[in-house]
Amino acid sequence: MRVPFFDLRVQDSELKKELLTAFEKVLTHGRLFLGPEVDELESRVANYIGTKYAVGVDSGSSALYLALKVAGIKRGNEVITTPLTWIISSNAIRSCGAVPVFADVREDFNLDPSSVQSNITSKTKAIVPVHYAGHMCDMERIGEVAKKNNLLVIEDAAQAFGASLNGRLAGSFSIAAGFSMNPMKSLGGYGEGGVVVTNEEALYHRLKQYRHAGTTSDPKKLITNDCRVIALNHKMDTINAALLLVAMDRLDKRKQTRESIARRYNEELPRSVQHQRISKGEVHGRYVYVVRTNYRDQLKLFLEANGVETKIMHEPLVCDARAYRKYRVDVPVARKVLDTSLVIPSHEKLTSEQISYVITLFHEFESQADYESATF
Ligand SMILES: Cc1ncc(COP(=O)(O)O)c(C=O)c1O
Repeated sequence: MRVPFFDLRVQDSELKKELLTAFEKVLTHGRLFLGPEVDELESRVANYIGTKYAVGVDSGSSALYLALKVAGIKRGNEVITTPLTWIISSNAIRSCGAVPVFADVREDFNLDPSSVQSNITSKTKAIVPVHYAGHMCDMERIGEVAKKNNLLVIEDAAQAFGASLNGRLAGSFSIAAGFSMNPMKSLGGYGEGGVVVTNEEALYHRLKQYRHAGTTSDPKKLITNDCRVIALNHKMDTINAALLLVAMDRLDKRKQTRESIARRYNEELPRSVQHQRISKGEVHGRYVYVVRTNYRDQLKLFLEANGVETKIMHEPLVCDARAYRKYRVDVPVARKVLDTSLVIPSHEKLTSEQISYVITLFHEFESQADYESATF
C-alpha cells in the first residue's frame, strides 16, 4: 500500500465545484488585485483569531517578514528564535537587517523560555516563537520573559492556524504574527499565501503600505507612486483569497479529521514511540504529526520500503545551515530532538486502512528491531 505524505489533488467533486464557482466569480468581477475576497478573508481571519486586524499577503514568508518589519525590527537588533524551524523564521529576521540568536528548545520541539532568558543581551529586541507542527509554545512563560525584559513577541504561527492555548488562538499573543496558507497548512489555499494579524491600528496601516510597495493606494488611482517606505510587492491574489474562503468553510472539518488521525496514532502506535504531548488547555493545530524514536533512521527506511512517505522536518538546524554558520551555537536539546524525530503522514485524505497500515508497520518494525524503550 502507498501512503503519501501529502496529497494536494482536489478529488472531492463538491469541493472542486465550489472552488470553480469561486474562481469564476473573481474572473467575472475582474478585481484581480486586492479584490473584495481579500477583504472578506481578512475580516474572517481576524474574527477567527480574535485580533482586530488581518492583512492578506502573498506567502507565510512575507507575513513573518512584514510582521517583523512593521514592529520595527532593524539592523543592530538581536531577535531570539528557535533553530528547529523552517529556515524562513531566520531569513525573515535577517531580511530586516537584524541578527537571529538561537535559543535551545524543550523536548516538545518548542522554544525553551529559560534558554530565551539566558540569551538576552542589551541588543535583544524581540522573541520569535514558532509553534512546531502546530503545538503551542509555552506562551505564558515566553510572555513573562518578554515583559520582564521589555521585548516584543512576534509569533511565527505559520504551522499553527487554529491552534490555541487556554482559549487564546496562536497569533493573538503577539504585537504582530504571521501565518502561512500554503496548501499543506491547516488552513491551506491553492497556491502561496499568508496573513499577518495584529491588534495595533498603526501597525495595520503600516502593513497595508508595506505589502503594496510602500504606497498608500489612491482610490482614484491617480497618485500611484507616492512611496512612503521602501518595500516590494507582497499582495495576496484575489483568486487565492477566494479559494481560501472556500477552504475556510471546511476548516473545522479538516481540523477534526486531522485531530482524529492524531488521536489514533497517539493511542495505537507502540508506546516506545513518543509523540508531542499536548499542554493543559491546548488545542494542537495539527499541521503534521511528528514522532520521536532513537531508531529514527532505521524506522524511516523501513516505512519507506513499505510505501509510507515520511519526512525529517527542518534539517539541518538553522544555525547549521551554511548562511548561518557564523551564528552557530550549542543547542543540545534541539540537536537531539531533530536527530530522533520523524514526521509521518497525517493529512485528511488518508483512509482508515492507510492509517491502520502505518500503525501495523510501526508494530512490525518494533517486533523485528528488538526495540528497546526509547529514552530521551
Ligand atoms: C515555521 C514556518 N515559518 C514560515 C513559513 C513560510 O511560509 P510560506 O511557505 O507560506 O512562505 C513556513 C512554511 O512552511 C514555516 O513552516
